[in-house]
Amino acid sequence: MRIAISTGGGDAPGLNAVIRAVVLSAHQRGWETFGISRGYDGLLRAADDQAGGLIPLGPDAVRGITHLGGTILGTTNRGNPFRWTTTGDDGSVIEVDRSADLVESFRAHRLDALVAIGGDGSLGIAHELFTKGIPVVGVPKTIDNDVSGTESTFGFDTAVATATDALDKIHTTAESHDRVFVVELMGRYAGWIALHSGLSGSADVILIPEIPYDIEKVCEKILERERRGRRFSIVVVAEGACPKGGRIVLRETAHDGRAERLGGIAEEVARIIGTLTGKETRSLVLGHLQRGGSPTTFDRLLALRFGSGAVRAIAAGDFGSCIVYTPPTVGRVPLLDIIGKPKLVPLDSGIILTARNLGISLGD
Ligand code: F6P
Repeated sequence: MRIAISTGGGDAPGLNAVIRAVVLSAHQRGWETFGISRGYDGLLRAADDQAGGLIPLGPDAVRGITHLGGTILGTTNRGNPFRWTTTGDDGSVIEVDRSADLVESFRAHRLDALVAIGGDGSLGIAHELFTKGIPVVGVPKTIDNDVSGTESTFGFDTAVATATDALDKIHTTAESHDRVFVVELMGRYAGWIALHSGLSGSADVILIPEIPYDIEKVCEKILERERRGRRFSIVVVAEGACPKGGRIVLRETAHDGRAERLGGIAEEVARIIGTLTGKETRSLVLGHLQRGGSPTTFDRLLALRFGSGAVRAIAAGDFGSCIVYTPPTVGRVPLLDIIGKPKLVPLDSGIILTARNLGISLGD
């Protein structure tokens, strides 16, 4: 057996742990493993006879990487082989379908299976490749935790820990200056990171995409705290949050094969809070720090379990499937059942209930 691994989309802490688990579990069975560089880029490079596209990965190549953030294979979120961007004769950016080249390259390199590690977008591509005849097993990855069918994606726990640490730190300066801080966290259209870290980091207000907010309610909470002598407040806002009847804030609209980039809501919320409450208000965007660093123990274990689960799926011939965590087990479901259905925070979730019970405002 010769199996390939790809890491596509945004990086997440734990990717290297998955790679290591796949390589070592495959090695135990006497199989060979190859890493595809930069998402699916590497296979297309290999198809174009360029060097460095496919990297042989033996036990030595994955020694000491479980605790490392990022991915040793590199990644890209512009690597959709079905919508490959290139420059046309007139210099304009055009999209071409290079999936046939990719399938041909996969076969030419005598690969037998592909472990595609990615978020919803990359898993969708993995499923399309499966329908084109590539034996694929998906592994769900994203700090956003928005993949359906799995309780958790690896990377999420680490992002929450980083965000919680940041909230702890912002508390002391907010309190010293009697200021309001609005902290913007990642998560795309789901509020998992904001909710989990906002609750753990004792935020006073948490705004998530699943609950459109009323800025008047947010200000009421801040002023109510002021009346109780709590002259500072911490507002956590998910990048995808939006006001009732309003729209999400974008840094960039979708273009050239790239998804839209969310961001900028904290500045807007801070400006309005400052105006309506008269309080000195600052905003902070935590940004890509949430994707960096060493995976937490939870993420390492989950990633290692996902990697070995992927090799078991290949051994069982269960292609077109995705590894999922349904505590306490790691199992698999058909990719088709989970792609294109982002997992949002359920409004009746225990975490939302706990936040409300603690008096945290959710802006509604
Ligand atoms: O999906 C992971 C994520 O970090 C999102 O939370 C965020 O919106 C996006 O990726 C940022 O993408 P980029 O790295 O392209 O700026």
